[in-house]
Amino acid sequence: MIFNYKFNIDLKKISSHVNSKKIKVLDFGCGNGIWNEDQIKKFQKFSEITLYDKDKNFIKILKNKYKNKRININFSLKSILKKNNYNLIIFSSVIQYFKEKELVDLISLLSPKNKEITIIIMDIPFMPRMYEFLLLPFFNIKRFYFSLKLIFSKKYLVKEYTIYSKKFFTIFKNKFKIKFVKNLHDLPVLRYTVVLNKKKN
Ligand SMILES: C[S@@+](CC[C@H](N)C(=O)[O-])C[C@H]1O[C@@H](n2cnc3c(N)ncnc32)[C@H](O)[C@@H]1O
Repeated sequence: MIFNYKFNIDLKKISSHVNSKKIKVLDFGCGNGIWNEDQIKKFQKFSEITLYDKDKNFIKILKNKYKNKRININFSLKSILKKNNYNLIIFSSVIQYFKEKELVDLISLLSPKNKEITIIIMDIPFMPRMYEFLLLPFFNIKRFYFSLKLIFSKKYLVKEYTIYSKKFFTIFKNKFKIKFVKNLHDLPVLRYTVVLNKKKN
């Protein structure tokens, strides 16, 4: 289908940013799932993958899609914050739907003191939504058609949308080592990825 679009995460690239043999990941704002179950089976380094989204409509889709025991679907933010034993948190194509303060508060909650943690925020938009949309066909035609479909949905218009300059991330400089890398999603030119690494204290 022309309006369908799928993105699979690159496990090796992602894991190269994490300084740990076993990775417990929280995929925050997972949507309908960027993980490929066959890849997960082969790549044992990811010992646990927790999928969380605020939109409960995804639960059924994810339950049908994922059968691997290492993939855990948990849509309770309260229980996620209580457990908080992840050493990698991924926000993929998500933070544009947060206000800046919401993101700062959330990162603070998810990265408590005395804990080593990596946060990978990928697919961050830096240009106004309409400019990006007009450029999209030159970079990723499948994603362009997918975005086109979204534009005609009611959800698209009511959603909060924030774009982020790289400078914004200096707000985390006291707690994290900040590294900008080529986007770990599928728009390497139009978007970017930031890796935040926090030592134990
Ligand atoms: C564009 S989709 C990205 C889905 C997936 N991470 C990916 O990369 O394909 C954005 C997702 O973020 C979720 N989202 C937006 N705001 C959120 C919030 N405050 N808490 C949790 N999830 C949120 C939406 O429900 C949606 O599933």
